[in-house]
Amino acid sequence: MMIPRTRHTFSSLAAMSVLGLGLSSCSLLGESAPNEARDAAAPQEEMGEVDGSRTLVAYFSVPETDDPDGMTQDEENSTHVVDGEVYGNTEYVATLMAEGLGADQFRIETAEELPLDHDTLIDLAIDWQDSDARPELQEAIPDIDDYDTFIIGYPIWEYDMPMPMYTFFEQNDFTDKDVYLYTTHDVSGLSGTLETVTTMLPEANVSENTFDISRDDMDDSEADVGEWLDTLA
Ligand SMILES: Cc1cc2nc3c(=O)[nH]c(=O)nc-3n(C[C@H](O)[C@H](O)[C@H](O)COP(=O)(O)O)c2cc1C
Repeated sequence: MMIPRTRHTFSSLAAMSVLGLGLSSCSLLGESAPNEARDAAAPQEEMGEVDGSRTLVAYFSVPETDDPDGMTQDEENSTHVVDGEVYGNTEYVATLMAEGLGADQFRIETAEELPLDHDTLIDLAIDWQDSDARPELQEAIPDIDDYDTFIIGYPIWEYDMPMPMYTFFEQNDFTDKDVYLYTTHDVSGLSGTLETVTTMLPEANVSENTFDISRDDMDDSEADVGEWLDTLA
């Protein structure tokens, strides 16, 4: 099935999902069911127990506002508010993971300031995908050799990683590192990105034990993240 390259593509499919029009059977949405730890029981060859002090949680997240009051629907979709503080969904999950493990956090940021207007952001995401762009990042991971394990999170954008994540995986050397992936999304799960990252990082140990959560389930994130972290122990 061909996907028309307009910014209405994802929104129309999401609307169909709300209407219960059977998106779960659509291959566009990726193979993973949201909000589940998968393959947790699968043997992870060469993946040791995660040592929080040697673990970095790195994430990309674009909350579309920092004002907890009077949010539009798009702004609500892209944020999670706790005690009046506004987090991006992926940012909030990173915070839970870092706190749960006693790990450090690193925010992946583009050199260019990103638009917060939802439609403008979608247009940019599509332009980047169409041109296979590698948007410049503010910095590489500092002191990467201080860590053995990386938990790397990103939102799904147009059924893929945001293009800055391609820059990130190309720019940092994950040779012999253990890498776990998580996503936040509306309906798309991992959307094939585990396979993409595994191919991009042949010298790393990319685990099949991933985590993903829908933005609609962020109220359950603390329990869901805790359950997934237990699988790393
Ligand atoms: C540009 C853009 C494209 C998106 N495309 C998808 C998509 O293809 N599938 C999906 O399930 N969600 C999609 N979403 C929804 C985000 O993945 C979701 O809101 C995510 O939790 C945002 O995380 P953040 O707040 O950490 O940035 C998209 C959001 C944006 C801004």
